[in-house]
Amino acid sequence: MNWFANFLGSSIGKKLLMAITGLSFCGFLVVHLAGNLTLYGGSDFFNAYVEHLHSYGPLINVAELVLLTLALVHVFIGIILFFQNLNARPQRYAVNRSAGGRTIGSQTMPYTGLIMLAFIIFHLMDFHFVDHEARTVYQIVSDSLTQRGYVFIYIVAVLIVAIHVSHGFWSAFQTIGANHPKYMPFIKGVGIAFSIVIAIGFGFIPIYLFTG
Ligand code: HEM
Repeated sequence: MNWFANFLGSSIGKKLLMAITGLSFCGFLVVHLAGNLTLYGGSDFFNAYVEHLHSYGPLINVAELVLLTLALVHVFIGIILFFQNLNARPQRYAVNRSAGGRTIGSQTMPYTGLIMLAFIIFHLMDFHFVDHEARTVYQIVSDSLTQRGYVFIYIVAVLIVAIHVSHGFWSAFQTIGANHPKYMPFIKGVGIAFSIVIAIGFGFIPIYLFTG
């Protein structure tokens, strides 16, 4: 158990946990986006998808618990690393330079992260912790995403997610050791492509519901 405490106490241990939890969240985003695309099939199609998902019963609760744990670990360690970096500024710049240049994504990670956290809480209050007996999930989603203010919030939030992921994706691969000069440009390219898919994939849904 001592090795585990030492591992968590070390900078590389914390960065590894950030990388693993962050990449797991990228995996969740892919599954979530794929599920949300059923919204384009209309109310019955989307509700059938949600019902199918809920039919997994306790398995879904376990998945939600895993997701919550990943989020808590990611946010908690992110906050610790943020304050450690603040206290060691010269060191931070040295690390950033060697990590392959500074981008909007890399410079704003803690801020985009906190905005995402606020968005996820708002999002869950909006769609998850509401009365699922009174309205179908399709109604819940379309009641929100046909209002101008909600559409704005969702589009801005999704752009923030894309900016966060554009840096987080390749940075996570670098942390887990895939920082070979031959593969890094490819991994960076995949990260950018991934963030664009996330931005367009999630961002077009509110536009579609609002204009439809
Ligand atoms: C237009 C975009 C989006 C739509 C329409 C949407 C829709 C939904 C819906 C309907 C639920 C509740 C499912 C249920 O309770 O049965 C949900 C849950 C969730 N969403 Fe989204 N979502 C969107 C974007 C996002 C984004 C960008 C993120 C991450 C940053 C995200 C993270 C989550 C999380 C963590 C849950 C909880 C998962 C669970 O407990 O099942 N969503 N979303």
